[in-house]
Order: sequence, then structure tokens, then C-alpha cells
Amino acid sequence: MKKILLAASECVPFIKTGGLADVVGALPMYLNRDEYDVRVVIPKYLCIPEKYRDQMEYVTHFYTYFCGRNRYVGIMRMVLNGITFYFVDNEEYFAGPYPYSNPYYDTEKFSFFSKAVLSILPSIDFHPDIIHCNDWHVGLVPVYLRHEFSINPWYASIRSIITIHNLKFQGVWNIEDMMRITGFPSDLFYSGKLEAYGDSNMLKGALEFADIITTVSPTYTEEIKTPFFGEGLHGLFWERSKDFYGILNGIDYNEWNPATDKFIDTNFDVTNFRELKAVNKAALQKELKLPEDPDAMMIGVVSRLTEQKGFDLISRVFEEMLQDHVQFVILGTGDYAYEEMFRYFANKYPDKVSANIYYSNELSHKIYAACDTFLMPSLFEPCGLSQIISLRYGTVPIVRETGGLKDTVEQYNAEKNTGTGFSFQNYNAHEMMYKVREAEEAFKDKEHWNQMIERGMNANFSWEASARKYEELYDMLCAKND
Ligand code: ADP
Ligand code: GLC
Repeated sequence: MKKILLAASECVPFIKTGGLADVVGALPMYLNRDEYDVRVVIPKYLCIPEKYRDQMEYVTHFYTYFCGRNRYVGIMRMVLNGITFYFVDNEEYFAGPYPYSNPYYDTEKFSFFSKAVLSILPSIDFHPDIIHCNDWHVGLVPVYLRHEFSINPWYASIRSIITIHNLKFQGVWNIEDMMRITGFPSDLFYSGKLEAYGDSNMLKGALEFADIITTVSPTYTEEIKTPFFGEGLHGLFWERSKDFYGILNGIDYNEWNPATDKFIDTNFDVTNFRELKAVNKAALQKELKLPEDPDAMMIGVVSRLTEQKGFDLISRVFEEMLQDHVQFVILGTGDYAYEEMFRYFANKYPDKVSANIYYSNELSHKIYAACDTFLMPSLFEPCGLSQIISLRYGTVPIVRETGGLKDTVEQYNAEKNTGTGFSFQNYNAHEMMYKVREAEEAFKDKEHWNQMIERGMNANFSWEASARKYEELYDMLCAKND
């Protein structure tokens, strides 16, 4: 049995701010349990809902020297759907209403978590062959592993993988503070190690010291080798290209299944969406106080409201798009300027815009089920799960051709009757608007439109195929140890 520990800052169903949590929650369930003992470790945030915190059992606690003094490390444990989850407890670091706060505080907090991930292993009696780290928050795990823990032979054989879900975030802070926080010697803060552009960089540490680097779609894997997408680190991906892989995310087809979804008004599948999807649309229009108009093309947006997701394009042409026979349903939180933009337009066009500026898993399911199209004009998109969920729910994606959006959505071709959605190339507001208008035209031809929906619903983006690819990487690394 190969032992794998997945380490991350978020994981469904416990805590989620974006797709990272979906991936960390789903991957373990799709790995072959006869061959892999996969466990997951995340922080025990106080903002994890009480119903889960109440189910956690205390394993043990100890103190570890970190950032100038001894710190409490509690270990909690819970088994869900046959997967063992560990939670690192320290209320100094993991209290607060959200998992993330300001950059300095997050840097210290996740440095602590990275060290704790390694420190708890003997206490939980789990000796992983591989620690699979996700994003910058656990970027110091491979660094601590090689530079502090592997002096102990118990740790020396453990291998590590870093998966990049979003290169934009790297855990950058000044070297002086990071030396104090981590206790690492100054010679680790050089290029080729933790340093980049004069600062300490937690993700770069992982990219230098992990045995394998992966990211979440084939296109993004190529994109980040270029200066535009590489966020200053593109050279490193060339250097490490023989250890660098792109594996497309899947979605959990049990959680995201319109035939069984408990949140939506009326369940449907590929055989009956022609009648029943419209019922969901009418129900959502009613709930959100939009006119119950089946012919208005309903455009959904469920997203973190950040620059990454292309809201600058929307803001440029929103007013113009709103002159069309459309309805926009927005669900998201994030940058104040985008939140205000959507509030403003909802106020000005109450019959056309519903702005829901909060987080709601339930409403997100209803939007995926009810809308005709889903708009995702991202500036960059490592993978993107929302467009994959949309396909599954018969909601036609309109996307920009970048990262995983390019790998998952095929442009509609009216003559050949092929494709699953609409995509445009340049980061240009009018190009996006013309695509939306192309979709509006296509929407009028119900027969072809429904055939496109059918192709999207039949496309397979479940985890099965991608989980096999992770297994191949795990096998390859384990073989190195044999
Ligand atoms: P990212 O991880 O960059 O935010 P993804 O498309 O990979 O983008 O994943 C986003 C996930 O977060 C999807 O499951 C989406 O439904 C969910 N999500 C984003 N914002 C909200 C919100 N306000 N309420 C509920 N779910 C949300
Ligand atoms: C990140 C990316 C998103 C990806 C998700 C899961 O948040 O922004 O594109 O789907 O991680 O890998």
C-alpha cells in the first residue's frame, strides 16, 4: 500500500473559498483505495462549520519551536467517506472568520502549518511515501523536509509533489522576517532556493525542492513557461521541465449531478433537460425577483470577484450588453470595486441583473442548473471548475481561450453542428461582447442549441481519468525509493 498525504489550506466539505478546496476534497475519493492509503491534512480553522468541528476527535498535542517560541500543535482527526482527515489545531493562528487574512499574517500562519504537517507525522503514526502539497500555503513543506527534517532517517525517504493551482499567489515576504519566522539559515535565501527578486518566496521554495511539480491543466502548464503567465518564475518551469506535468482537474460527479442535486428546484438529466431545465430557470427567476421570461438568455456568473476572472472586460461593456434580451445572475464576493459595479447595475436594471454578493453553495447549484449560459472571460485560468460544472448542468459556457478553459470548452460551429460552448481569444471587452451576442443568436435556434447542451452534458470531466494520472506520478516517485 502506497501512503500519500495531501496537504492544503482548504478542502471541501470543511472549508472552501475556491476550486482548490474542490480538488483537495475530490481527488482522494477517486484514487484506488486498494493501492493507495490517502489522507488529508488542513488547518483546524475556527471558521470550519461547527457540525464538522464537533465530529473531530482529539488525537494528541505537543509543542514545537517556531518563530521564537514553543507553539501548541494539536491534532484532530475525522473520517469521512472512508478518508482520514487530520486537522492541525492552534487557535493563535487559525481563529478568525476566514481562512486567510493579511499577507504578513498568512505568511507566518502557513509557515507554521507547513512545519506542523511534518511534525505531526510520528504522532499520527503515518509514514507517507509522498506528501502532495497544494499551492504556496504549504510551499515550505518540501523545504522543511529537505533542510530540517530529513536529517532524521525516518523522514529522509519521504518524497514531495507541489501542485500549482494558482501561480499568482506565491507567499512573498521579506527575507529578514522570513528568517526569523522559519528559523532557516541565511544560505537558504538565495536564488536557486527560497529567494526570488530580493524577497523570500514560499512557492518558489517548493518549486526548487519538490521532486515533482504539477499544475492543473495542460494549457496552463505551457502558458506559465512564458513571461506573461509565468509571474516571474517562468524560467524555473523550463529548468525543471522534466519533472513538470499538467493534469486537468475533474469535478466530483456525485456532488455535481443535476439528476440527484438536492439544492435545485427540479432534477434533470441529459434525457429530459429539454423540458426540465426551463423549470429550474423559472424557479430561479421567481426566487431572485427577475421577470419569468423563458426567452431572455440567462447568463450566470459564480466567482471570486477578482481581476483574474475578467471582470474588467465585463465592466467595460456591461451597460451595452444589458440592452440585449438577457438576464445576468451574479454570485460572488471579492474586490470592492466589482462588488459595487454589480450592485449598481442591479439597482439600475432590476429586471435584468440579480447581484448576490455573498457566498452560497446552495445558490451556486441553482445558478448552474437554471442558467442558459455561464460567462467566464478570465484573464488567466489555471483550470477552472465552474465551466466544467456548467457543462454538466446543461449551461453553455462562454469563455476566454486560456488555461483550462481552452482545454474544456469547444467553440460551437453552427454548420458542422459541433462544439460545447463559445470561446474568444483576446482579452478584449468587445470580443467578449460579440461572443455573448453570438450565443444570443444561437440561443434562438432551439434545436441546435439543445444538441449543443447534450454534447456538453455528455462530455466526461469526471475525476476518473485525472486520478489515474496522479497515480502514475505517485508510482513513479515510489519506484525511486524501491
Ligand atoms: P477559483 O478556484 O479560481 O476560484 P474555479 O472555477 O476553479 O475557480 O472554482 C471556483 C469554485 O468556487 C466553484 O466550485 C464555484 O462554484 C465556487 N464559488 C466561487 N464563488 C462562490 C460563491 N460566491 N458562492 C458559492 N460558490 C462559489
Ligand atoms: C485555482 C484556479 C482555478 C483552478 C482551481 C483548482 O483557484 O484559479 O483555475 O480550477 O485552483 O485547481
